[in-house]
Formats: sequence, C-alpha cells, structure tokens
Amino acid sequence: MEDFEDRVTGLKEQNDVVLLAHNYQRPEVQDVADFLGDSFDLAKRASKVSQQNIVFCGVDFMAESAKILSPGKRVVHPISPPNLVAKCPMAGMVDVEGLESLKREHPDAVVVSYVNTTADVKAISDVCCTSANAVKIVSSLPEEKVIFVPDTNLGLYVKRFVTDKELILWPGYCRTHVWITAEEIEKLKAQHPDAEVIVHPECTPDVIDLADTVGSTQGMVNRVKESDGREFIIGTEKGLVYRLKKENPDKEFYYAERAVCPNMKEITPKNVLRSMETLGPEVVLDEDIIERARMPLEKMVAIGR
Ligand code: 13P
Ligand code: SF4
Repeated sequence: MEDFEDRVTGLKEQNDVVLLAHNYQRPEVQDVADFLGDSFDLAKRASKVSQQNIVFCGVDFMAESAKILSPGKRVVHPISPPNLVAKCPMAGMVDVEGLESLKREHPDAVVVSYVNTTADVKAISDVCCTSANAVKIVSSLPEEKVIFVPDTNLGLYVKRFVTDKELILWPGYCRTHVWITAEEIEKLKAQHPDAEVIVHPECTPDVIDLADTVGSTQGMVNRVKESDGREFIIGTEKGLVYRLKKENPDKEFYYAERAVCPNMKEITPKNVLRSMETLGPEVVLDEDIIERARMPLEKMVAIGR
C-alpha cells in the first residue's frame, strides 16, 4: 500500500488533483484522501478547491454534485459511464417522470430532494438537503406542503421535528441501511449496556427509536469525538467504522457486519490510480441540467448544516 500512497501523492502534485472521498470509502482510499467527509461537507468543499482537477471517490450523485457546484473544474469519478457501477440505488428510485406527476398532483407543494438523486431530478427540485441538514432545510421553508424525495426513512425522521407541515414522502429507501435491524441493535445493546447508540437517519424508524444520537456520517464522527463514552454501537455503513477506529484508537465500536454499500466499494486503489493518471473518466453533464440543478444545491449550501 505504501507504493499506492506514494504514487497517489506524486500524481496529485503532477496533475494538479485534489482527492475527495466519502466516509464509506475503502480504508486504502480513505488513507489517501485530501478531504474525507459526509455528502454535505464534500459538496461544499468541491465548490472551494483550488486544484483544477477533482478525483471524487464516492457514489455517482456525489461526483455529479461536485461538477454542478464547480462546473469550471474537471471532475473525475473512478467509476463513471459506461461502467455505471458506483451508483447509489436509492438515487435511482425516483425519476423525472414520477416526480413531475407528483408535482402535478400537489401544485402548491415545494420540492425538497435529498442529494441522493440524479442531476435531472435535482433540476426539477426547489432545494436539496443532505442527512446533515434535512430538518433545518424543511423547517426553513415558508410553504406548508413539502414533497420530499426519495428517502422515506429520512422523511419520517424529519417529520418527528417538523410537525407544522404536510410531508409527502416518496417510497425510496437505502438498501444498506435497512439491513440494520432493531433486533440487531437490541442485541448489541444487551451485550454492551454502556455503549452509546449512534445511527444514521436513513435507518428505519424502529432503529432510530433505539438511538441516543442520530446524525449524518460526519455528525456521527463529531459525536464520537466529543463524547466521554468509551463504547459505541454504530448504525450505518461499515466503512465509517474504519475512520472512527483510526481517529479514536482508545474507543470501542460495535456495528452491523452486513451493512455494506457495494456501490461505494466499487472505488478501489486500482481505479483511483488509473483516474489520477488519466484524469478520466470525466463526469459530463448537460449544460442545461448543470444550470438548473445548481440553484437547489446552492440554496442548500447557503442554508448550511
Ligand atoms: P452522509 O451525507 O451522511 O455522509 O450520507 C450519505 C449516504 O449516502 C448515506 O448512505
Ligand atoms: Fe446510497 Fe445507501 Fe449506498 Fe448511501 S449507503 S450511497 S444511500 S445505497
């Protein structure tokens, strides 16, 4: 791995590349990232980097958001068309046709789309959100009726806090987070009664009911850091645990073994290296889509976390 790290370091300099990576990336990829974060921080960071080239290690919608917020940069996604394997399945659960039809049914509703959507769905949305700011974004809207796509579980979580609005939810969900069951968390709690339970809001409501803290992946990292606790039960994709262990070697982590996002893991040292060398495959989006999808993303960044 040392060779991989050295080669990546050299190529960053040589090709003017910044390497951004999501918290669920493989350990080897996390270790070479210039910046590691949740989807909100990554989107924000992508709009501010000084390098001309961004190699984005995460699923496709994250790389697309980076391109939309930084259209003048070359954004490279190690797995891009025609391979199309590092796709977030939840982002594929809502399409333009379906959302347009829901908008026609509720013409007085504002559309909030989770960043886990395609660029063309963002382009017909009013504002985006991530798990870090969904409650804040929905609360900030003057409208009483909100179409929230595509994650039902995140929408149900928002509903716990925003009680004065009608939320119309889309039946999307994360295949990885639904593998984390309340039964499993209960079992881990029985084995480790002193552990603090921290989960992601893409988990189902019965899992969220068992949590001490609910947050985005970066929110989870921050909570572990600031907590006096020594043991934690983690309810999210397993990749986050690598970062938690690395940054908190004196703390213990228990988690659902099955919670792996195969799409995130499609990014490997091999394809990262190829992308650093060739500056491809490049994320290419229609100019018109970039223009229209930028507004809801910029609105989200302006409202903040
Ligand atoms: P975060 O924004 O919390 O990192 O989550 C992204 C995601 O895809 C969770 O499954
Ligand atoms: Fe999509 Fe779930 Fe993977 Fe996140 S963990 S990228 S929501 S499939």
